[in-house]
Amino acid sequence: KRTIYLTRHGESEHNLKGLIGGDADLSVRGKLYAEALAEFIKEQNIEGLRVWTSWLKRTIQTVAEVKAPQERWKALNEIDAGICEEMTYEEIQKKHPDDFRARDQNKFSYRYPRGESYEDVVVRLEPVMMELERQGNVLVVSHQAVLRCVLAYFLDKPASELPYLKVPLHTVIKLTPVAYGFSSESTLFNE
Ligand code: F6P
Repeated sequence: KRTIYLTRHGESEHNLKGLIGGDADLSVRGKLYAEALAEFIKEQNIEGLRVWTSWLKRTIQTVAEVKAPQERWKALNEIDAGICEEMTYEEIQKKHPDDFRARDQNKFSYRYPRGESYEDVVVRLEPVMMELERQGNVLVVSHQAVLRCVLAYFLDKPASELPYLKVPLHTVIKLTPVAYGFSSESTLFNE
């Protein structure tokens, strides 16, 4: 029986400022999570574990101390917010009010100008999901929007719920196969 572990990167400098997207480093608290995660993974003693991250610094830094073979997937990068990259939601609402409203009305299909929609992310994740299905124990370290898509896939959630699934920082979500589909269990860290 195989297990899939999902986590977002540790808190980043952008998370602290409320900025979306970008390629920031981990914050001090984020680095503490990275240490706690490495310790947790070590304690679990997971057979043949493999670690998959995105290409962004914050996911790579999050598993710097995890002792297991690692692979980087560009397809695990966070949703591209296009013209809204590295803005706060407040700034987006002010500078691009029509976009802000449109996204709120249909968060799954809304595509950021020169960026992506959740629907686009689901499509670019297809090869990752295919490979993930064939693997044994894997720790996937990615980002909020991407992990919502991964979770929706395994927990069979509809597109309408997908963009609102809860994937908090500093939490490991463990997916294990059950009779039909997967069951999920979350571990929240204090770091
Ligand atoms: O704020 C962190 C973040 O990962 C952003 O980089 C990304 O744009 C956002 O979350 C995705 O969440 P939502 O779709 O709710 O804006």
